[in-house]
Amino acid sequence: MPVASPGSDAGGSPQGGPPVVGGFPPGFLWGAGTSAFQVEGALDADGRGESVWDVFARCPGAIEDGADGSRACESYARWREDVALVAELGLGAYRFSVAWSRVMPEGTGRVEARGLDHYERLVDALLARGVAPILTLNHWDMPQALMADGGWAGRASVDAFAEYTGAVAGRLADRVPWWITQNEPWIIALLGYQLGLHAPGVSDLGASLAAGHHVLLGHGAAADVLHAYPGARVGAALSLFPCDPATPSPADVAAAEGSDGYVNRWFLDPLLAGGYPADMREHWERALGRPLDVIRDGDEDAIGGRSDFLGVNYYTRRVMAAAEPGPGRPFPWQVVDPGGTAPRTDAGWEVNPAAMHDLLVRLARDYPGVPLLVTENGGVFADAPTHDGRVHDRRRTAFLRGHVAALAEAIAAGADVRGYVHWSLMDNLEWALGYRPRFGLVHVDYPTGVRTVKDSGRVYAELARTGVLQP
Ligand code: NOJ
Repeated sequence: MPVASPGSDAGGSPQGGPPVVGGFPPGFLWGAGTSAFQVEGALDADGRGESVWDVFARCPGAIEDGADGSRACESYARWREDVALVAELGLGAYRFSVAWSRVMPEGTGRVEARGLDHYERLVDALLARGVAPILTLNHWDMPQALMADGGWAGRASVDAFAEYTGAVAGRLADRVPWWITQNEPWIIALLGYQLGLHAPGVSDLGASLAAGHHVLLGHGAAADVLHAYPGARVGAALSLFPCDPATPSPADVAAAEGSDGYVNRWFLDPLLAGGYPADMREHWERALGRPLDVIRDGDEDAIGGRSDFLGVNYYTRRVMAAAEPGPGRPFPWQVVDPGGTAPRTDAGWEVNPAAMHDLLVRLARDYPGVPLLVTENGGVFADAPTHDGRVHDRRRTAFLRGHVAALAEAIAAGADVRGYVHWSLMDNLEWALGYRPRFGLVHVDYPTGVRTVKDSGRVYAELARTGVLQP
């Protein structure tokens, strides 16, 4: 089946509608993802300890509509239903996260076997259905107990994370092929420690730099633990935003380059290219007014050279303009609205599959030899069941189609992409935005927990079954 995409001649439907998209390598993984705090609920079950998100959610105004994670999608109890959904969709992979505080309620030390039992049942049920588990170790819900040492801003977090990784690996590394150590280090650092918009709600630029660094060190330490198990493939999932200048002016071009350093290269380079980028070190030193002594001798060696793949979370791009640093703006740039007529998600984010194509091709060029796994891609679309009981989410289906076509083109252009994981399997708790933004291929009716496969889910199922996206 030829690779085709909108605008190309090959593979178009006879009616001249959207083209057929295919050409994915054998064994290409089609998956969907969730994370523990966003779907599980059952915060007190089986000896689970408190996480930073439990505490943050109790702060008035922290989460829209005063929502919390106490019920979410009830996946801790309904996990069999979730596995059945994954199987019904014919997916080859399911990305989920382990809640650290279910396994180590105090953050370190005592292991809660009932927590591990739960994830073992989940993994075994997935494997029994032929679904590859993609296990994320840290999807933001660090045990609250570790805040005594500053959470990720404190260096003790690194050893604690390695200890937790050992506990999970000891139970599951003989069965789980894909391990994601850290999810979106930049978002943890930015929203959790710089802007205080996510747990643990810290607003401190220095703490943000330290948190990002310790998250990366945690990746290195966890990878060393996991690599004792043959067959464990280990990577971090980065939130990557291609950065374009708002105008061709040299100042805006420099702003885009700077933003790329801050958002993307600051994490990519130490993981995959041997160390932090020099230009961004200077930006950080200027913004903090002091040397980056949180980065110690030997740290970069402990982060790099340990990734078997890179997880790519892609949602949209950033359009950048030059701006003077000032209150709330530590670096000399700012994000501006992309303008134009491209469709937007209900979160207002530009839908831009071409930027994902370019990102994947750029990663293949700049970090050669590193297999890529798209670990998140999706959008907020607010569709609900209609009178026929179905969810006709045309815009999500179009989003999916556009991004899968871009993915096929990136692979044809030489990017070594091993799989695509849509975010999300089902509507869930979108962190500080509460339950309103819906990302799912499956609709969740929160009062009842009832799951309904959306039309986009049906289209995706066909793609997963055949490897071909029909018009
Ligand atoms: C990033 C996060 O990994 C995930 O938890 C979140 O729900 C999605 N992107 C959408 O914002």
